Formats: sequence, C-alpha cells, structure tokens
Amino acid sequence: MSKADQNEQIRNMTALLKARLSKKRFTHSVNVARAAFALAERWGADTQKAYLAGLLHDCCKELPFSEQEELMRGGPFAVSETEWLCKPVWHGIAAASFMHAELGIDDMEVLSAARWHTVGHANMTKLEEIVYMADLISADRTYRDVERFRKMAQNDLDKAMLCAFEWAIESVLKKETPLPVTTVEAYNFYLKKIADRTDTKSKSAEHKK
Ligand SMILES: [Fe+2]
Ligand SMILES: [Fe+2]
Repeated sequence: MSKADQNEQIRNMTALLKARLSKKRFTHSVNVARAAFALAERWGADTQKAYLAGLLHDCCKELPFSEQEELMRGGPFAVSETEWLCKPVWHGIAAASFMHAELGIDDMEVLSAARWHTVGHANMTKLEEIVYMADLISADRTYRDVERFRKMAQNDLDKAMLCAFEWAIESVLKKETPLPVTTVEAYNFYLKKIADRTDTKSKSAEHKK
C-alpha cells in the first residue's frame, strides 16, 4: 500500500470510529494509536501497522455481548474455553473479526495485535506486544502504576510485558473472574525470558573473567 493510501485508510478508519464509539472511547483509541506508533518507533516495528491496530483495538467494545459473540464465531481466530467464560476479553477477538470482515483488513499481523490485546499469549509478536502495552500506557490512563509502566515500556519491553501480566492477573484474581489460560502462559513466558537473559549475561561475565 502506498503512503497516500495508508494515510487515507487511517483517515477513513478514524471517521468510522468517531461515528461508532463514545467520545471517551474514541479519545482512548486515538491515544492508544499514538502510543503504539511511538513504541513501534522505539522498538523497530512497523509504525503504520501499530497505529492502525492501536486505533481499532477497541472498535467493538461498545457492542452488546450478543453481537460480539456473533463476530467471534464468524471470525478467523479460534476462541479458547476460558475466553468464552470471560466476557470482558471478547471485544479484542470481536474487533479482529470485524476488522477482517467489515473493514477489509487482511494483514494478520494487524488483526492478531487487536485479537490478543485483552488476554495476551506466550511469545507474542513485537506488534502484539506494542499494542498490548500501548493500551496500558495511553495518555488517558491515570491508574496508580501508569508512570512506572510508561518508563518500563521505553526501557525494557520484556520487563514491561512481565509486569503488565502480573498486574492483569492480580486484577482478575481480585475480581474473582475466570483467568484466560493464555494470560498465565504469557506471564510464565516473560518470566522465563527475563531469567534466561539474566543467566546469559552472568555466564558471559563469568567467561570474561
Ligand atoms: Fe480493550
Ligand atoms: Fe483499550
């Protein structure tokens, strides 16, 4: 797609979201798109794809669950048993289906960044990580740990992902709602990735002695 076509796509999608979402959620969507763009620049991912996925990640969040369910059933992504039990995560999967079926987006990288933004999974792609983090650190977020997450997302993306999953799991436990299996797998994955990184570092320091 040419640069001009990409810009036109973003303009069209922005107009569609403005008509489709509440003011608050529209602002959040634009903020997530901007945060995703900045993280893509920082971590060497495709900035255009990051902006688009960030912009559209919550495009189905205000639909009734019955409509979200219909989209999920007709979409290109499998849905796990625990995801079916956990309605608040549905809108990510529904968004990917809607983007695919209604908005003509067939880039799987963009679709899966939207699909996984609610639950995460082990070994996420860079674009998935970026949209997941951008959703947590967008300019409209005001929760207690947000500044810590913003700094971490700039300095160490693996560590930021690990802390984000710790935080997500803690809040699910507090609410006593079902915990999607892939969220636990994501936590284990980033924990191990960081431990392996530390091991490799100390081994190479040993070697230099
Ligand atoms: Fe969301
Ligand atoms: Fe969001």
